Amino acid sequence: MEKVELKNIANLCKRRGFIFQDSEIYGGIGSVWDYGPLGVELKNSLKDQWWKRMVYDRDDMEGLDAAILMNPRVWKASGHIASFADLLLDCKDCKKRFREDKLKERKCPECGGELTDPKSFNLMFKTQVGSVEGQSQDVYLRPETAQGIFVNFNNVVNTSRRKLPFGVAQIGKSFRNEITTGNFTFRSREFEQMEVEFFVKPGEDETWYEYWLEERMGWYISLGIRKENLRLREHAKDELAHYAKRCHDVEYFFPMGWSELEGIANRTDYDLKKHSELSGENLVYFDNARSERYTPYVIEPSGGVDRAVLAFLVDAYREETVRDKQRVYLSLNHKLAPIKVAVLPLLKKNPEIVTMCHKLRDDLKGNYRVVYDDTASIGRLYRRQDEIGTPFCVTVDVDSLEDGKVTIRERDTMEQERIASTRLKEVLGVKLGLDT
Ligand code: GAP
Repeated sequence: MEKVELKNIANLCKRRGFIFQDSEIYGGIGSVWDYGPLGVELKNSLKDQWWKRMVYDRDDMEGLDAAILMNPRVWKASGHIASFADLLLDCKDCKKRFREDKLKERKCPECGGELTDPKSFNLMFKTQVGSVEGQSQDVYLRPETAQGIFVNFNNVVNTSRRKLPFGVAQIGKSFRNEITTGNFTFRSREFEQMEVEFFVKPGEDETWYEYWLEERMGWYISLGIRKENLRLREHAKDELAHYAKRCHDVEYFFPMGWSELEGIANRTDYDLKKHSELSGENLVYFDNARSERYTPYVIEPSGGVDRAVLAFLVDAYREETVRDKQRVYLSLNHKLAPIKVAVLPLLKKNPEIVTMCHKLRDDLKGNYRVVYDDTASIGRLYRRQDEIGTPFCVTVDVDSLEDGKVTIRERDTMEQERIASTRLKEVLGVKLGLDT
């Protein structure tokens, strides 16, 4: 497999409208990103696929959308106020700041200067609620979506009448004041998580833990990530988060090396117990069948939407030489491709061809993104669609006006097939396989 550079991905993302630097016209803000017209499609498709697999394809899952702002006591109970911190060192010369765990030696990696002693730096963003000055309350932007699920445990059990084992799935924004290293969107200050808290009977946690390792690896592979670029890495004891009994990272072979894509943790009964203690609300589960009361254990597959977007882009990126010309294409799974079909005229000066293109586009649109483009020659139009991962281009030429046939060109193989335009919708529906 060819080596993909992160800068090629970042360039393509900016040039084609996947990802832009946030507030770019003001010089940006560090490690915060905006998703452009194609990026939002890719991100939404990815979240849809996650939700489908986690919620719709199962019968043991409920969904939730909790707020970003929470009572600050949540973060006291969860341990984030006390221990969600990085140890940071400052360079006494160039004043840059570094994470202790990322330093190879005790000198500044930028200028070689002397470093300060490590200081603990909490990663949560603080803000205030309340409009009366002096009476406002400090609150935090959530650093993980998980706690919204734990504090709603009773609400979900009581309203859904769920029995263990069952899970609660949630996708939403999280915020961390990260010290970042410039790996594009990999470590952002504002990002999205897709998390499941899966509640099980204590004693059954190890079995479910193994189940979720396999299930999550399977999801990435089913959407096209190459097996050889994925691995599971178990955390050493001294690496485990304060709440975890065990944790595996799903790692992807990013251009900067093997890095975390998702964490799968056995959080035990840590969170529910802590919230019970601090809130006074009893978060114990009554097991009707066994007439037993216990605090469930939790297995948590916790993925990052932005990291998944980046991994799918890196994995899909291909460069090849075709007839002495370089071609770049994104071999994205059809379910993830931002635009599914582009309708292109071979002769944009011919109004009948243009009218036929518009009609085909109008017939196809509705269930997926279809575009019409006539802003360049056909060769350039193909290259543009290849580069953004559009699986199929449909071209209309002079013959189409006579025989009613159009050409379908497939992105990866560039193979072309001529079919009756009346069959286009049906044929593309099968090729795209979107409802399977
Ligand atoms: N609830 C558990 C939890 O938050 P985590 O390992 O800190 O665990 C889970 O985060 C996932 O969230 C990570 O595997 C990663 O995909 C994503 N993530 C965490 N911090 C991130 C950041 N600064 N930028 C982008 N994604 C991040």
